[in-house]
Amino acid sequence: MNHFTEIDKAKLPRHIAMIMDGNGRWAKQRGKLRVFGHEHGVEAVRSAVESCTKLNIEYLTLYAFSTENWNRPKLEVQTLMRILVSSLRKELKTFNKNNIRLNAIGNIDSLPKKAAQELEEVIKKTSENTGMTLTLALSYGSREELKLAIKEISIKVKNNIISPEDIDEAIINTHLYTHDLPDVDLLIRTSGEHRISNFLLWQIAYAELYFIDVFWPDFSEQHLVDAIINYQNRERRFGKTSEQLN
Ligand code: IPE
Ligand code: IPE
Ligand code: MG
Repeated sequence: MNHFTEIDKAKLPRHIAMIMDGNGRWAKQRGKLRVFGHEHGVEAVRSAVESCTKLNIEYLTLYAFSTENWNRPKLEVQTLMRILVSSLRKELKTFNKNNIRLNAIGNIDSLPKKAAQELEEVIKKTSENTGMTLTLALSYGSREELKLAIKEISIKVKNNIISPEDIDEAIINTHLYTHDLPDVDLLIRTSGEHRISNFLLWQIAYAELYFIDVFWPDFSEQHLVDAIINYQNRERRFGKTSEQLN
């Protein structure tokens, strides 16, 4: 059966962001080590990317590793980085087949050299693709992103490149990692946690939030469809009254 029939193609979220959470608990439930969960999480990533491609979603942004995740046990961090490298290698073909452009946000320089190189290579080799933009948030922290933007803008003010009066939302936007992405329309977090964990604080100002009590490795196409249908049944008022919208 086609899962997509109930989705209104004219009202798709342009930008979906996902906090892929719950790999560790998924593994623990099965009496396995946390890294087992991360390995299975890759399958869910592949499936989510494929579903979004089929649906013609323009932008998909996945929270894969936060600035705070560096504080995890060394072995877990190493495993996550290893999984990143091998997945990028494996997926390049699929990205090109499906016209996906890979993008990354976060402190990419802080990643292990091998991971940063692999990432750079796949980004380069998919840069001509014109379909979905898939953004991986890696060593990403929203506060760090804002701090860097404030620093850069301050330097420009100090050097008389811009004046303080010029600083508006558009200028702030151009100094964020996400400068070439539209605002998030739908933010999905798995695992039953109801928090943002330092993800895209500026960019989700008017996003619709959707929390689902399923661990990331179990997140399926049907869950994504449910989230989109739920999103489509909401009224996005952006501060206006309901009457003004009609
Ligand atoms: C999400 O799953 C993956 C990353 C943060 C890299 P977790 O590893 O946070 O799994 P839980 O939340 O501990 O179950
Ligand atoms: C958020 O998950 C980061 C990613 C999904 C990559 P965490 O598991 O790190 O978040 P907290 O610590 O529970 O808030
Ligand atoms: Mg977690």
